[in-house]
This record gives sequence, structure tokens and C-alpha cells, in this order.
Amino acid sequence: MINTLTDVTAEILEEIAAEKQLRQTHEVFLLFAMGSQFDHLIKLTLDKFGVYCLVADPSQVTAEDVKRIAPTGIIVSGGPSSASENPPFDAAIYELGVPVLGICLGFQMWAAHHGATVAPSPRREFGVHELHYSADPTALLEGIPDGSKVLQSHGDRIEPGDQIQIFAATDNSPVAAGRLGHLWGVQFHPETTATEHGAKVYENFVFGIAGAKDRFPADDAAGRKVAEVRQEVGERKVLLALSGGSDSAVVATILQKALKPEQIRAVYIRGIDRPDDEANVHQYFGDLDLVIHDATDEFLGALAGHAAMHDKRVAMRGVYRQVLEAEAATFGAEYIAQGTLYTDLTESGGGHKTGARKAQIKLHHNAGLEFAYKELTPLDDMVKDTARAIGRSLGTNEALLVRHPFPGPGLVVRIEGEVTAENLRIARAADGIYLEELRQAGLYDTVWQAGAVVTHSHHTYSKGDDAGTGLVLALWAIWSVNGFTAEWAELPYDFLRAVSRRLTNEVSEIASVVYRISDKPPATIEWG
Ligand code: XMP
Repeated sequence: MINTLTDVTAEILEEIAAEKQLRQTHEVFLLFAMGSQFDHLIKLTLDKFGVYCLVADPSQVTAEDVKRIAPTGIIVSGGPSSASENPPFDAAIYELGVPVLGICLGFQMWAAHHGATVAPSPRREFGVHELHYSADPTALLEGIPDGSKVLQSHGDRIEPGDQIQIFAATDNSPVAAGRLGHLWGVQFHPETTATEHGAKVYENFVFGIAGAKDRFPADDAAGRKVAEVRQEVGERKVLLALSGGSDSAVVATILQKALKPEQIRAVYIRGIDRPDDEANVHQYFGDLDLVIHDATDEFLGALAGHAAMHDKRVAMRGVYRQVLEAEAATFGAEYIAQGTLYTDLTESGGGHKTGARKAQIKLHHNAGLEFAYKELTPLDDMVKDTARAIGRSLGTNEALLVRHPFPGPGLVVRIEGEVTAENLRIARAADGIYLEELRQAGLYDTVWQAGAVVTHSHHTYSKGDDAGTGLVLALWAIWSVNGFTAEWAELPYDFLRAVSRRLTNEVSEIASVVYRISDKPPATIEWG
């Protein structure tokens, strides 16, 4: 579960000491979370190394607290603020002599503190760029080849000055990596999979620069999840929101391992789903007590009159919440379980909540719903690939695990403007054709996710001898590892041509088809 260090009390220090003893180490790293969407990926990277890492709230944990914890190293994450806004952080921490690695904003913060100019970059840098060495790469970037791809996502940049030793640059960042004594920094995001050799940066910092020695063996995350759920729930009942996608499927497996069958009921909500979701649920969860709740009318009623994506998300959440609460009451459940991932929390502005500003990218349907029931979200410290790994080790059906992610608000975010029964039908038909073609062409497993969006644009058509205006349908497909970053997938032209022909022929309302070619960042994966 998500834990963030705020008060460093005697009790907390005892807990840290106990954890160190368990891991047979004296080492602990502190990660100051400055509001980056990627902060938890840094923790997961250190977890994978077997290193003990605590996430700290920069607005609460002071230099005095840090002294008492005596960390081996400190990482300061990126964040949406600018260094000139004075994000919360006790600058006395820089003076403790503990090695610090600043990521993006974290780098700019210590650079600005030491007098460097941090100013808006004339050209902002989002996306993948090449890293080039301007000096010997030094300990931090050892083993990372010149020309490696790195993910940048920043508007400000550090200007070269006399103080900081600079050893790498990208197109628009003359200072992409640098050092001042025990303070190190990179302007890019090595925690994302879009950065080649990114884990190496953390490995170099943790084991090289900070000198950590102890690697605790990778623990049994899946077994721990099962034990935690069993302990939390006891003999009580749980209602599971089951979508047919992989995350709720993994939660179903965890519940089945942890509880007795009579304690679990799953509900599948019909209305804004894909053509094959319901069949999937029947096929793979026949052994669960399963209820199909048709909420089509409730969804359409709540969505009527709403054109903005945010409003539609809010309307969708309202129905989702009502349905789950009603079903929980019928079953006599005390818990509502969902497949919420860390990604969902953080993009909704939650996750590691600290005093630093954090952007809300979009309001996910499954975060912060404040149910009148206890929530069970055993995957809320996981991202897509680590959640899949848990499912794999517990025996979740592989066909479910490899399904493309599908957003909880379903086809709602694949329709521009007001959602009506009519454009819901078009979106569903288009999705069905697109995914069927991807499967037939053997491309489904080569992309991480794909979608079809019914846009608000109109296009003139001439079909047969008739003419008129029809809709523009936008297709997209991406390559990713965990959804935090993504690259548009280069689908073959022949494939795109074939899909476009099928869509315009079989769905009469569609006049033309376009393909989206933007990466994340800056574009998010879903349209809305
Ligand atoms: P974005 O569009 O934020 O998407 O780049 C990242 C991943 O999350 C999915 N997504 C959602 N999943 N509830 C979900 O369960 C949501 O509200 C939601 N919005 C986006 C999206 O499909 C992608 O896989």
C-alpha cells in the first residue's frame, strides 16, 4: 500500500530500525516526492534492486529528521512546479553531506540553491531525445552509451555556469547531467522505460556513488498481497468490480487465494463497455459468484448534456459508484474491491500525497470515490507490468493478463462531445473492427494498447453516387511498458489502409479515418 513518510517520530524510527533488521542492512534511501507522475517508478526501481527506500514528504521531513534517519542516499524527484516557485524542501538537507540525486525539478532545485540560473527554456522539451556527453560521463552515467535515448519532460532548464560540473547535454538542455560535490542531477527521467539504460543511472547512484552494498532478495510480492487481503478482510464479504480487463482479473485471483468463495461476489457493469468484455468475464470467471448489472440507461442519463471530458468522467463516476454501492448492499459486503493501479491514483492527483504541488491529469473512475464502504485496492502500489507479474505468479489466466488495458470510463473517453446511444454504438462497432483487424494481422500483441475515437470533426464523403458529411474516426496505437510513457506505434501502412476501408465501408456514419502520431508525454494515451 502507499505510505509516505511525514512525521519522523520515535515510533517511526523504531519501525525503520525493525525493517532494517529484517533486511539485515544499515542502509535506507529517502525519496523526496516533489509531485512527479513518475515518483513511484523510482521507488519501484529501488525495490527491484532490493534496496530499502522510503518516500518522504518534502513539506514535512526536515534536515533534522533526515539526520535522525541517516540515509545512505537521497533522491529528489521531478514535479510540476518550477524551481523559482520555491517548492517545499528544507535546503539544509543539501548541507548534510549525504549524496543527493536530483531528477529534473530535483536537479533544478539544488542547482538554483547554489546560484545557478534556472529559466524557462526557449524550446520546451517533452519526449525522447538523445543524450550526448560534453565531458567524461563520470560515475553517474557510467556504462550509458553516448547517443542513448532519454525521456525529457520539462519547461525550465539549467543554464551553464561556473559552479556545476556538466557532463551531458540534449538538444535543448545544455545541462542534462551535472554534479556539484555530493549533489548530482539529471534533467531527464531515468525511471521511465522510455529512457534507455535508465535503471543504470539509479544503479550507479545507489551502489556506486552512495555506496550501498546490501540487496535484500526480491520479496514475494504476490504472496504478501494475498496475506494482506486475508488479514484485512477476515471473515467479511467483498464485492469486486470486475471489468474483464487484466487489473481486476488479478484482484479476482488475489481474492480467490485469500478468501472463501462465499465471501466474494463480482459485478460486471454493462453500458460503456467493449463488444467482447462481457463474454470474456463469463468465459474466465464462471467459477465466481457473478452479477451482470446493465447500467446503460443510467450512464446515458447521467452523461446527457455533458460535452467536456472532465464532466463526462465525473458523470460516469457517479453511476459507477451508485451501482457498486447498491450491489454491495445487496450482497451484504463490507468492502468494495477494485483493480486500481498506482498509475490511476497519481494521474488523478493522488498517490504519494505530499506538500508539493501535483497535477491532476485526468480523473480516473476508480480513484478517490469515497465509497460508503471500505475500499480494497491491493494493486494501488503497482503499475501495469508489476501488476501483471503478480497475476502471473498467482495463476491468473494469461489471456486476461495480456489483454490491452482499457480505461474504466470505457467508451466514454473514446467519444468527443456528448455521449449518446448513437455514438456509443459507433464507438463500439469501430473498436470491434479495429481490434479484430489487429488480432488478425498478428499486431495485437505487438502494441500495448490501441483505440478508436469518434471525433467531433465532420468530413465530406461520396459513397456510391451519394454524398454527404460523416464522422472522422481517429485511430491510435502505442508501445509502452507501464503506461507512464508511450510511443506511437508504427503500424504498417497496408494494415492502416485495410482497417480504414473496413471502417468506412461497414460503419456508415464514418466518412474518414485518421491515425494519431503523438507520444506520451506530451499527449496522454487516451483522448480524454
Ligand atoms: P492516459 O490516457 O492517462 O492513460 O495516458 C494511461 C492508461 O490508463 C488508462 N486510463 C484509465 N484507466 N480509469 C482507468 O482504469 C481511467 O479513468 C483511465 N483513464 C485512462 C488508459 O487507457 C491507459 O491505459
